[in-house]
Amino acid sequence: MAKNCIGVDIGSSAIKVVQLKQSRGGARTQLVNFGIEPVPPEAIVDGSMMNSTDVADAISSIFRQLKIRSKEVAVAVAGHSVIIKKIGVPSMTPDELDEQIHWEAEHHIPFPKSEVEIDYQILDGGGGANQMEVLLVAAKKEIVTDYSDAARQAQLNPCVVDVAAFSLQNCFELAYGKSDETIALLNVGASISSLNVVHAGESQFTRDVTIGGNAFTEEIQKQLNIGYHEAEAYKCGGIAGDEVVPREVDDILLQQAEVMAGEFQRSFDFYLATTSEGQIDKVYLSGGSARVPALCEAIQSRARLPVELLDPFAAIDINESEFDMDYVRSQAPMAAIAVGLALRREGDNL
Ligand SMILES: Nc1ncnc2c1ncn2[C@@H]1O[C@H](COP(=O)(O)OP(=O)(O)OP(=O)(O)O)[C@@H](O)[C@H]1O
Ligand SMILES: [Mg+2]
Repeated sequence: MAKNCIGVDIGSSAIKVVQLKQSRGGARTQLVNFGIEPVPPEAIVDGSMMNSTDVADAISSIFRQLKIRSKEVAVAVAGHSVIIKKIGVPSMTPDELDEQIHWEAEHHIPFPKSEVEIDYQILDGGGGANQMEVLLVAAKKEIVTDYSDAARQAQLNPCVVDVAAFSLQNCFELAYGKSDETIALLNVGASISSLNVVHAGESQFTRDVTIGGNAFTEEIQKQLNIGYHEAEAYKCGGIAGDEVVPREVDDILLQQAEVMAGEFQRSFDFYLATTSEGQIDKVYLSGGSARVPALCEAIQSRARLPVELLDPFAAIDINESEFDMDYVRSQAPMAAIAVGLALRREGDNL
């Protein structure tokens, strides 16, 4: 069996690296490495790679610090350049589908065929008579190339390119198992939020929205008329806790959390309007912005659903003498996608 890839989640604010070791059959999973490295501002904007050298340098730096020598990595793409849809196609054999999928995709993808990479998975059961249901994934070639090239520039071998929403699902299933409930997985980063509604281990609906923790920082900057770094520090509770955070900051976080919760509610409503399942039972929140308590509370009261922080390490063995457990616990929300990626192996498909 191929070894696990190293999960490298390339974000606009930070690179998250997770290395896992799984026992044969995957019964036990052990944390081998975990690290986070900041990415200079503007190197990635809304998921688009603007400065791959800065990104590659950040990746190299964290690999050096963690002394990782393996080269095989899994990276993820997200945002408007990725489209995931469940489609119905006439029943056919897998070989036929492999030939047909590009034609089928054309009806569902708003980008020219020549500009996208297509992947798909046949779903069990759905579709009705003479029909089958297929999960279609289309990602712009440009974004796939940009993200894998950044890894190559850091002298790594990107053997898997995943979609962030699916990495999130893999992370969730490792941590909590397949749930019979309908779960909304929501990863709120700095500029992109990825939603994946999962029922009984199957993705029902995914959507990425370009909103994230930057919105909090920008609002603090605007209302207090201060610079980015100061606002970012206030948002995170002050630098090393020794800074006095102005009283207004809590109110600004609260207001902005309401706006974001409203945005997420639109996606929940869209899912609910287009499904026969008819409900979401629970929300699991992850990503760096899950650390803003007001956001968790705003989603909870807006959606009238229980919201829990996703703990990516819930089912992972961690040797407490090797890791700084305070660091691991405090940074855990940011690790979700990287953990999902670290479960992938070379040669894996979707
Ligand atoms: N303690 C904290 N309190 C509030 N916000 C925090 C805290 N720690 C991190 N964040 C915010 O989390 C965001 C970073 O999270 P994450 O690493 O998930 O994003 P990213 O993957 O780099 O971004 P994206 O995928 O959206 O491009 C930043 O906006 C950062 O300010
Ligand atoms: Mg991210």
